[in-house]
Amino acid sequence: MTQASTLVSMMRDSGGAGNSGASPGAYSITSGKGGVGKTNITTNLAFCLARRGKRVLVIDADLNLANIDILLGLSPKYNIQHVLKGERSLAEVLVRGPGGFRILPASSGILDLFSLDESQKLFLLSEMEEMARDLDFLLIDTAAGINDNVIYFNLAARERLVVLTPEPTSLTDAYALIKVLAANHSIDRFRILVNMAASKAEGLAVYRKLAMAADRFLDSVSLDYLGFIPKDAKVTEAVRRQELMAEIFPECRASRAIDELAGTLIEEAGAAGDGNFFWQGMLNL
Ligand SMILES: Nc1ncnc2c1ncn2[C@@H]1O[C@H](COP(=O)(O)OP(=O)(O)O)[C@@H](O)[C@H]1O
Ligand SMILES: [Mg+2]
Repeated sequence: MTQASTLVSMMRDSGGAGNSGASPGAYSITSGKGGVGKTNITTNLAFCLARRGKRVLVIDADLNLANIDILLGLSPKYNIQHVLKGERSLAEVLVRGPGGFRILPASSGILDLFSLDESQKLFLLSEMEEMARDLDFLLIDTAAGINDNVIYFNLAARERLVVLTPEPTSLTDAYALIKVLAANHSIDRFRILVNMAASKAEGLAVYRKLAMAADRFLDSVSLDYLGFIPKDAKVTEAVRRQELMAEIFPECRASRAIDELAGTLIEEAGAAGDGNFFWQGMLNL
C-alpha cells in the first residue's frame, strides 16, 4: 500500500462529526459538442441547489470557452498554485457565486492536477477532504469533446449528466462521448438531459434517438432520461447581463425546469447515501 492510499483509508475510516465525512454527490455536466448549455445548466443548478439549502461547489473544468467567473462577472484573486505553496487554503481560493454556492475557477490551474508529485497530492487531498466535509454537491462543468481532461473529470465524478440539444450534430457527438467512456473506461450509466427543446415531446424524441443508437451498438450501457430544459430567451438575456437566470427570472420556464432537476438530484442523494470517495478519484491515488 502506498503512503497515499494509507492516508486515504485512514481518513475514510476516521469518519468525523457532522455529516460523518461522507463525500458529496459528484456530478459531471458534460457533452460531446460545445455550446449546448453546460455552463448555464451547471451554474443555475448550483444556484437552485443552494436555494434549497444545499452546500454546493462548482469546479470550472473548461479552460477553453467562456469561464464561469466571466459569465457571472466575478474576479478570482488566487489559484491552486497559492494552495500548493502554502500561501492560501483551498477555501480561500474558492469564489462565492450568487446565492452562496462556491466555485473553483478555471484559472486555478486545475489541469496541473495531472502533474503534481506525491507529496503535493497528499497535501491537496487533505485540504480537499477538509472541504468535502462541508459539501452536499459537487458539480463539474467540463469542456466539450473527448480529450484527456474531459475523460478525467468524467471518471472522477460519480454521475455523468450528458447534455445534448435537438441539433443532429449534438446527438452524434454525445453518442461518441458515451461510446468512448463505455468502451474504454467501463462507464455504463449516463444521465441524459436535453437542453433547448421546443417541447416536452421534442425532448423525449431526442432522448429516444440517442437511446436507440446506444441500445443497438453499445452493450450494457444504460441511459436514464433526466428530462428537458426548454429553449428560453431568458437564458441569453441573463448571460448578457452577467447574472444568473434562476436568480433574476425564477419563474421562467428554463429556471423552473432546472429547479425541478435540483429537486430530483436532492431526492436521489438522500436515497444513495454512499461513501463514494470522490477526491481520491480526482487525484488518482
Ligand atoms: N435553454 C436555453 N435556451 C436558450 N438558449 C440557451 C439555453 N441554454 C443555453 N443557451 C445559450 O447557449 C449558449 C451556450 O451556452 P453555454 O452554457 O455556454 O454552453 P456550453 O457550456 O455547453 O458551451 C449561450 O449563449 C446560452 O445563452
Ligand atoms: Mg461552458
